[in-house]
Amino acid sequence: MQANDLSGDAAASGGRLLVRGREAVDTPLREAVARMPSPARLWTGFHFGWWDAEGEARTARQGKALRPALTLGCAEAAGGTASAAAAAGTAVELVHNFSLVHDDVIDGDRLRRGRPTLWAAFGVPAALLAGDAMLTLAYQALAAAEGPHKNDALPLLCDSVQELIAGQAADIALEDRLETTLHEYTAMASAKTGSLLGAACAVGALSAGCDPKRAAHFTRFGRRLGLAFQITDDMLGMFGDPQATGKPVGGDVARRKKTYPVLAALTSGHPAGQELTELYAQTAPLTAEQVVRAGTLVERAGGKDLAQERARRELDQALTSLAAADPLRAPHRELTALAHLMTHRSV
Ligand code: IPE
Ligand code: IPE
Ligand code: MG
Ligand code: MG
Repeated sequence: MQANDLSGDAAASGGRLLVRGREAVDTPLREAVARMPSPARLWTGFHFGWWDAEGEARTARQGKALRPALTLGCAEAAGGTASAAAAAGTAVELVHNFSLVHDDVIDGDRLRRGRPTLWAAFGVPAALLAGDAMLTLAYQALAAAEGPHKNDALPLLCDSVQELIAGQAADIALEDRLETTLHEYTAMASAKTGSLLGAACAVGALSAGCDPKRAAHFTRFGRRLGLAFQITDDMLGMFGDPQATGKPVGGDVARRKKTYPVLAALTSGHPAGQELTELYAQTAPLTAEQVVRAGTLVERAGGKDLAQERARRELDQALTSLAAADPLRAPHRELTALAHLMTHRSV
């Protein structure tokens, strides 16, 4: 990941946390997936980029593993260790990947991480089952964990999954509603993305024996960061480079998704926003030409700038909550750098 406005040292410090987060969960994740019965094991390993559709080992492009890095960073910020946080990070990464596999079915997307999505490679039934298997594995990973978080972490993760599902339902419902407010967007995005990032931070802090009051500050950090991250993701889905993101560009607009830059443009009062409203009023998916036009209109109406500004504000709020958690100094620095990377990225 590259950050546009971070000094080399700060970007490197966020990058180091990412590497350590991935290292902390790599072995437990592979061991957990190895215990899955076939064919869920084949589908899951394909999705993670560990092997091809025939099960032959292959190193393909993988996810960024942001959530385990947040779990680890918050654990260390609360005085914990990587080994104590590993099961929690593994569970969170499995929940995230469950959500992606089902999300690609919901959104009809055929490309993720620069490769065919699970449903595009194996069909929708396989993707539904593989997602179910990953979610169950996540609960198993956390239920088997030892440590001070044993009793608190699992209910917290379960609550975040319920909220994520509600957020995904709201995202779908908004496709067919032209009259949508930025407030409704915020509630939807906080639920579909903020909930799990909040849980990623909280279970990390809990693994360090953090008390619930202090853990709540870590949760707020993750939730706010999640909203900033989703707004950034919305912008990349409209103005990003598919080679870099590994995801389709324009798909959200084709389905008339109410992303932040689109909504900001629709509610801007600018004439370009009015033309966008007319495009979004049609019930059929937008054509490729209309998708390009929509991007131009969003920029003209100031939607891109407004989205960037909002993501920056949410990041600031997130960092205020992180400071309120009284984090240890070195992990505080790393988490701050990672939070910047997550909201100033091209991938
Ligand atoms: C994508 O998440 C889904 C959102 C919540 C926006 P990531 O960008 O973290 O996905 P991977 O794991 O790196 O592919
Ligand atoms: C993100 O969904 C939230 C979840 C997957 C729960 P999106 O549909 O906005 O994310 P991408 O762009 O497909 O990764
Ligand atoms: Mg999607
Ligand atoms: Mg989606």
